[in-house]
Amino acid sequence: MTVRVPAKVNLQLGVGPIRDDGYHDLVNVFHAVSLFDEVTAEPARELAVSVQAAPHSRVDVAGVPTGDGNLAAKAARLVAARLGVQPRVALRIRKAIPVAGGMAGGSADAAAALVACARLWDDREQPVLSRDDLMEIGADLGSDVPFAVLGGTAVGVGRGERLTPALTRGTFHWVFATADGGLSTPAVYGECDRLRLAAGETAAWPAVSAELMTALATGDAKGLGGALSNDLQPAALSLRPSLRRTIDAGRDLGAIGALVSGSGPTCAFLAEDAEDAADLADALHGAGVAEQIVRASGPVPGATVI
Ligand code: C5P
Repeated sequence: MTVRVPAKVNLQLGVGPIRDDGYHDLVNVFHAVSLFDEVTAEPARELAVSVQAAPHSRVDVAGVPTGDGNLAAKAARLVAARLGVQPRVALRIRKAIPVAGGMAGGSADAAAALVACARLWDDREQPVLSRDDLMEIGADLGSDVPFAVLGGTAVGVGRGERLTPALTRGTFHWVFATADGGLSTPAVYGECDRLRLAAGETAAWPAVSAELMTALATGDAKGLGGALSNDLQPAALSLRPSLRRTIDAGRDLGAIGALVSGSGPTCAFLAEDAEDAADLADALHGAGVAEQIVRASGPVPGATVI
């Protein structure tokens, strides 16, 4: 059973005040893009997880835990418990999504494992676990996991796990600049809090950008480019100052929108159409500001059996 699962970019990441449970209340507009990991689930004597880079991708998988430490293993255990079976499965993960890159690669693999194991252990026409059930289980694994199951474009509130699909029109064309070495999500949220405290700012309650939603609904790439925002960007730039040069290079080379993806360090650039995206990718490659330049388009569906 093989499942393909997309990376995400946050079109708006509004970070509200820190909550008692240590999480931040968010307004998180997720957008799934055509950069995919694949997870294969096969019956095995016991639960095992192996990780490799996808063919032709240059993802550094050295830091990704195998075995029980991988979020995909936890996903398999949760599905098995819900179905009343033993988690006897070997999960083979092939990664094209950057590791610790701000594109929810780990969450994507967990989402793929949820879908793959549910299908492997329950092949009834009306499965016991619906997609909604899998999203609910995913929320216990991580804030970004339910969206990787759902895909498309969606507004997340709460920790980001309570999702409402957003109306979009057409396809948006992206160029991603990956960086050498990841950023820790908790560290970036922590830096965001520290910067706010140092500046004497109290975090405002975030609200969905009406400009962003209109641009999505009308397929207006320029409008979308102007409406992109990420409250974690100052924190990511503070922890990784070299990203400023990457963002500036993308803007100078014609991107109609540029921002750090999620907690970074991947930077996302929006182009007006596929041709402009190809030109921008070439120019960014030539500028030498990133480890790797990857093109992708969105929205695309969430975790899908192939
Ligand atoms: O939910 P997930 O495990 O992916 O979150 C990773 C970390 O990111 C959390 O431990 C927390 O530090 C931070 N986070 C947050 N507020 C959110 C989501 C994540 O502070 N809404």
